[in-house]
Amino acid sequence: MSNQQTVQAIWDRLKALPKPTLAQLFAQDANRLELLSARIELGEDSEGEVEDELAYNLGGIRFDWSKTHLDAAHLAEFEQLAQAMDFDGRRAQLFNGEKINNTEGRAAEHTAMRGVGLDTSVEEAQALHQRMASLVEAIHEGALGEVKHLIHIGIGGSALGPALAIDALTRDGAMVDVHVVANIDGCALEQAILACDPATTLIAVASKTFTTTETMTNALSALNWLRENGVEDPYGRVIALTAAPEKAVEWGVDETRVLPFPESVGGRYSLWSSIGFPVAMAIGFDGFAEFLEGAAVIDQHFAEAEGAANLPLRAAFADQFYTRIMGAQTRACFAYDERLALLPDYLQQLEMESNGKSVTFDGAPVDGPTAPITWGGVGTDAQHAVFQLLHQGTVLVPVDFIASVAAGHDLDPAHHRILLMNCFAQGAALMAGKASEDGARAYPGNRPSATILVDDLNPAALGALIAFHEHRTFANAVLLGINPFDQFGVELGKEIAKSIDNGNATFDPSTTALLAEAGLAD
Ligand code: F6P
Repeated sequence: MSNQQTVQAIWDRLKALPKPTLAQLFAQDANRLELLSARIELGEDSEGEVEDELAYNLGGIRFDWSKTHLDAAHLAEFEQLAQAMDFDGRRAQLFNGEKINNTEGRAAEHTAMRGVGLDTSVEEAQALHQRMASLVEAIHEGALGEVKHLIHIGIGGSALGPALAIDALTRDGAMVDVHVVANIDGCALEQAILACDPATTLIAVASKTFTTTETMTNALSALNWLRENGVEDPYGRVIALTAAPEKAVEWGVDETRVLPFPESVGGRYSLWSSIGFPVAMAIGFDGFAEFLEGAAVIDQHFAEAEGAANLPLRAAFADQFYTRIMGAQTRACFAYDERLALLPDYLQQLEMESNGKSVTFDGAPVDGPTAPITWGGVGTDAQHAVFQLLHQGTVLVPVDFIASVAAGHDLDPAHHRILLMNCFAQGAALMAGKASEDGARAYPGNRPSATILVDDLNPAALGALIAFHEHRTFANAVLLGINPFDQFGVELGKEIAKSIDNGNATFDPSTTALLAEAGLAD
């Protein structure tokens, strides 16, 4: 039997497995919770010496897939699938710095930025982090004068990570007030500059390629704003975060304020590199180091755990089950934590730009669906807006709930108790449903959800959460046989926008009329 036939046979067996309801699955197996939930400890913070000299416990994360339709038979078949798709080999290639991004001829070395990977890459990452730590420390100590604000300009992978991490980790104050600006729409930059004092503002220009139109246009406008407001040397206020340091220098940034990162770190995986500079500015480099440590715990787990005991791989089993067997076209993530309000946006790029593909690793057409649409929101707000469809609509939406045992505020503990009770109640209600003779009041139930519960949303837990999703995305790509590290699909729109700008293209009648209406035609 060829490997392709073996893989097909596994999918056929998976499709043929019985489909008990969630309630039946719990009734059939007293050990279901044990089988499908697990906990990862984040260890102790190496930086975190506290006064009584006890190491600072970073807590852990509980993962619970017992309210999904996976059972022992599925896990066994998916383990066979992972083996047939050479999960161990692809994983080894990832951590060994091999050119696993075959279409671009590059490795994918984001884990090396967290200290896990090829020795030479880890050493290079440590040296780059050292350089970043020195600059962050120098700025905090006044090397560039008083710095109260930082406008971080980047887009996509150069913006979503810093925006998420800063929003999540600075609710109780930040060492520097950071504004992340992405959109070319001037409203975005204007809002940031209105909140900043030019005399005490630094500009971080974050772009892997240092060519992205939105970022370079926003950066020039930010410099003009500084110049128009009395800053004599605006380029002296810029920190460049890029894998193309020579371009940043050519653009006008002094080499001492260029923080490079390796070409082998992909844009949507770059938060761990110098793209994390604004995070380190906001929470301090020690906090950023803790963020990296939390991610490294997941890296070690992902590199070592076998089969379904490997939690990102197990999450991918559930993803594949719902997308390819049950036909789910979307997957939703609801953060029951205001601090994670930007997590669904972050995961959208991570998952949809990575696995929104229609050819395999070898360029052959895929034989089924790849990434579902990732979407979501924040609880409890979303309950009062979109949950109606989850409970009683006609489409299947597997849901992930994410919450923290510890509250992120000092108000009455009732807030957090009610928040968590709502989170768990939604998972229970989706599963249990409710019969009623009146159809409008009947809940079908048997709707799947997974829950990820951190002890405390500290930097390590956030790092671990993001790394978990990165490896889950990679594991999905391996099971599908696709390359998650390229993104050619975003190029065509960029090219067309450029040709409109150059005025040398002809378009369909609809586009031509729109250009004329907006005054953009010659
Ligand atoms: O257009 C998509 C993309 O290439 C993303 O993958 C990337 O994160 C983003 O643009 C920004 O690119 P850069 O960091 O090179 O400015």
